[in-house]
Amino acid sequence: MKIINSQSLLNYNSFKIDAIANLFAIVKNKKDILDLLSNQKINKKPKLILGGGSNILITKNISGLVIHNKIKGIKIIQEDKESAMIQVGAGENWDDFVKWSTQHKFYGIENLSLIPGSVGAAPIQNIGAYGVELKDVFIKLEAINLTNSETQIFNKSDCLFSYRESAFKKQLKNKFIITKVFIKLKKTKKINLNYHILKEKIKQLGLKKLDSQKIREIIIEIRNSKLPNPKKIGNAGSFFKNPIINQEQLIELQKKYPEIPFFKKEKIKIPAAWLIEKLNWKGYQEESCGVYEKHALILINHNKATGQEIANLSKNIKHSVYEKFNITLEEEVCIL
Ligand code: EPU
Repeated sequence: MKIINSQSLLNYNSFKIDAIANLFAIVKNKKDILDLLSNQKINKKPKLILGGGSNILITKNISGLVIHNKIKGIKIIQEDKESAMIQVGAGENWDDFVKWSTQHKFYGIENLSLIPGSVGAAPIQNIGAYGVELKDVFIKLEAINLTNSETQIFNKSDCLFSYRESAFKKQLKNKFIITKVFIKLKKTKKINLNYHILKEKIKQLGLKKLDSQKIREIIIEIRNSKLPNPKKIGNAGSFFKNPIINQEQLIELQKKYPEIPFFKKEKIKIPAAWLIEKLNWKGYQEESCGVYEKHALILINHNKATGQEIANLSKNIKHSVYEKFNITLEEEVCIL
């Protein structure tokens, strides 16, 4: 395994920010990681683990060691009539894994099709879309402690999953490198059509016979119609989380904006995209960055933006949402 000095991260982050990592290494297995951690020259340096780089905004050069996780492998390790337990290398591309699952006629993650990023990054922010979250299928993960090189297993309850959150974004942040994720998928047909947009689309298409493959195709169509392809336009998906508000706040907002959309499960969430669009940011363009014209929650790098320029735009949006609605938006993307 090579340790590279001064590596450009341009092709390692979906926002396409051209920042430099002081030291950079690609790990393909556990041995690579253990070798790195025992290397006297670098074991004291700060470390940043990079998967698909699709949920970060890099605002400065990285002074320590960037470890790019490329641990591969998808394996069925246990199965019965109803379900299968799959072990997936953390460096697998998430959507390749979803594709594999639908090709094997499994159910459980088809609604999470086309989410960019790696399998190892999926539990960190408990990825979610169209009524499904990673925690719904997650069993456990294996990770290596960056301080003492020990391998540790984290069961679901250890991960403290919530909306786009886990212990790996909080108390365990930057302390572990995830090596394997274990996911349980159904072999019997179980489709989740709770998300209104998905249900409507299926109704519109008049589809009766649905399987996980078909759902995957529909999700891909919906996503492609409103989200920019990171291969063509630099972005990191939803930049902000949808804010959670209480009943009183909702009533107040409804007095002024009776049409305000909201989702009510255990908590009340309102779409950040609606708030941002209401303030006319949708389609806003600066010289290098802006807000995507088809979805107000997506910040884009359309012309060699620096991370700082995008961070400034995000601050301005947050400020205007706070001024108008008295709501503080929280970033979903990790700002480095
Ligand atoms: N909306 C607007 N303006 C827009 C876009 C949306 O007002 O420009 C409003 C509409 O009322 C729409 C509602 O927002 O009905 C919801 O929009 P959408 O279905 O696109 O979902 P979202 O809440 O913006 C969330 C996730 C997405 C996920 C979709 C589908 C967050 C922060 N984002 O977005 O996840 O794909 O639901 O489940 O929860 C991501 O995490 O990067 C991501 C893309």
